[in-house]
Amino acid sequence: MSNISAKIIGAGFGVPEKILTNKDLEKLVDTSDEWIKSRTGMSERHIADANTATSDLATIAALRALETAKISAEELDVIIVGTVTGDMFFPSTACFVQNNIKAVKAAAFDLSAACSGFIYGLSVAKAMIAAGEAKTILVIGADCLSKLTDWTDRNTCVLFGDGAGAVILQATEEAAGILSTYIFSDASKTHLLQVPGGGSRKPFSEEVLKDKSNYIKMEGNEIFKNAVKGMERAIDSALAKAGLKYEDVSLVIPHQANIRIIESIAKRMKLPAEKVFINLDKYGNTSSASIPIAISEAYATGRLKKGDILVITAFGGGLTMGASVIRWSI
Ligand code: UT7
Repeated sequence: MSNISAKIIGAGFGVPEKILTNKDLEKLVDTSDEWIKSRTGMSERHIADANTATSDLATIAALRALETAKISAEELDVIIVGTVTGDMFFPSTACFVQNNIKAVKAAAFDLSAACSGFIYGLSVAKAMIAAGEAKTILVIGADCLSKLTDWTDRNTCVLFGDGAGAVILQATEEAAGILSTYIFSDASKTHLLQVPGGGSRKPFSEEVLKDKSNYIKMEGNEIFKNAVKGMERAIDSALAKAGLKYEDVSLVIPHQANIRIIESIAKRMKLPAEKVFINLDKYGNTSSASIPIAISEAYATGRLKKGDILVITAFGGGLTMGASVIRWSI
């Protein structure tokens, strides 16, 4: 095995200006601030306007990550964007970002793993660095799920927000950075969370418009149960791969999907509240952006310090799941 590791040298995020509160949602569907807060932990989320696409938010996140890393875009060898809401079917959102930030040397591509997109991207980037294929990689999680949301469906429209988060990974020979990643999928459950229409299975048509199959369809309860089990398995596997235990963990950043899912994971790991990062009250579930937004905030607010052991974990449509153990090194 190669002795080249990948460490995070910068992080940043971007969210749209417009805020949609629970009270605003009360005007759209039969729901209440009280229901949303108690069942999900969410209070507000940021929503992209008609002129904003995923690459616009990803570009803001990328530029902020470059700034904190103190490197120029020309130093990037690869750009990976985890997204399921690309600007277009093609070109990739990563290509739009590459052009916006002038990363002239980079190869750019998207990766589709729904809410787990960032962790899958991190896993690919780590492997590319370990194999000597690249030295510096920009990994972005970016989604505008509001564009796939049926604003008359109270089961889904209260949950999601838009945003992008980015980190920059760089090759290092120190025993630092990404200590392990673990990703897996359970494709027997593709039906639990999907956008059935508008793709090659059922291309966009009048029928799609009528049956609203171009919007998110979700079996919330089943996703909930699978999320808890899946993230527990992912955390245990990633920690075992890194040779570490629950007691070694300084901070856990779980996918920000539901406060009750997060609490259940924290309870099992016997983690005190200060070791669990939560920002879903402000952003809702931002899909693949949720973890890199939280990493950027945790770093900016001093919740992550050099040497800390950070565990991140996510789940999403697919079903896809994963976790990573990181020795924070900036
Ligand atoms: O990143 C992956 C994306 N997906 C997820 O993370 C979803 C994971 N699942 C969840 O977070 C939860 O399952 C939900 C928040 C979606 C739902 O919470 P729940 O405690 O599982 O509620 P439920 O689905 O069992 O619904 C309970 C009741 C139902 O009414 P009845 O049938 O008992 O009369 C729903 O119709 O709550 C109703 N309900 C609502 N009521 C007010 C569902 N959505 C709403 C709403 N406002 N927005």
